[in-house]
Amino acid sequence: MTAPFKPTPDIDRITGNTRLRRNRRTDWSRRMVRENSLSVDDLIWPLFVVDGHGKREQVASMPGVERLSVDQAVGEAERAAKLGIPLIALFPYTDPGKRDEAGSEALNPENLVCSACRAIKAHVPDIGIMIDVALDPYTSHGHDGLMDGERIVNDESVAVLVQQAMIQAEAGADIIGPSDMMDGRVGAIREALDHAAYADVQIMAYTAKYASAFYGPFRDAVGSSGTLIGDKRTYQMDPANGDEALREAERDIAEGADMIMVKPGMPYLDILWRLKEAFAMPTFAYQVSGEFAMIHAAAQNGWIDGDKAMLESLTAFKRAGADGILTYFAPKVSEMLASG
Ligand code: PBG
Repeated sequence: MTAPFKPTPDIDRITGNTRLRRNRRTDWSRRMVRENSLSVDDLIWPLFVVDGHGKREQVASMPGVERLSVDQAVGEAERAAKLGIPLIALFPYTDPGKRDEAGSEALNPENLVCSACRAIKAHVPDIGIMIDVALDPYTSHGHDGLMDGERIVNDESVAVLVQQAMIQAEAGADIIGPSDMMDGRVGAIREALDHAAYADVQIMAYTAKYASAFYGPFRDAVGSSGTLIGDKRTYQMDPANGDEALREAERDIAEGADMIMVKPGMPYLDILWRLKEAFAMPTFAYQVSGEFAMIHAAAQNGWIDGDKAMLESLTAFKRAGADGILTYFAPKVSEMLASG
């Protein structure tokens, strides 16, 4: 973290001989004074998996992003490992026929994410795998927890989420990513993992996850935009709140989170900065589907330079204190970084 900035008294009197532009004049000098840089080690790649074999389906609202059958996901994981990407995050497109009120497919040890995890672990042992804990890709109502009438119930949901985390750990997940925003889930998952000899499985908590409009394309990708009844404002955070993120983080950390995350990314850089400053934890940002889609859409219209906007946005996360970024740009930016 940077040292606190103390404005110089009387700065106007002495600025005569200061020229900040001197350091910016040449490329070598700009590189030399650069405070932050992006590396492949900072990137986490979210991948969508779907039933079938040899299947790749384009997600309409996310240019270049495909839903992959397990065999194809193994191929992409291999590519990611070769590029040096440390971690991939798996998300399922669950067949609509397998979605129900209770999200029971989440507890099927042979479900898509568990099968993909096993296959990738067998073929590509040197890449980390994270799996989301939340019920929304599995429920007929599209919510992350269980419903009782109109309500998303907390403790009953946590009990199911714990079981979901356990089958993911059994499938070989290295990191469990609770993205459900139920209270107390991190502690409950940690306790269950530890009792079942999964003490080494890490937890990256979706700590400050906001009820955001920027998740739209993701919900297309996992097929929950059609299913979602209402919205997620009774469990995801209010975009107007900042202090509350500190309270969420304090609890997740006390409950045993190894890493914390802020989501979405760019509209919440202040939250990222505050959490990193306050807790000095490994802190991640999720550049979500809507942010990815916006950059692509503007670039496709010729309104911005897409590659430059991509690199600028990712560098901004580093500047704001991120230790890493979940981004759909991960393979593209890794290739650019590798070729210099
Ligand atoms: C599921 C989940 C969501 C995202 C990641 N995990 C969607 C949601 O909460 O509705 C969004 C990711 C993205 O938009 O890229 N709980």
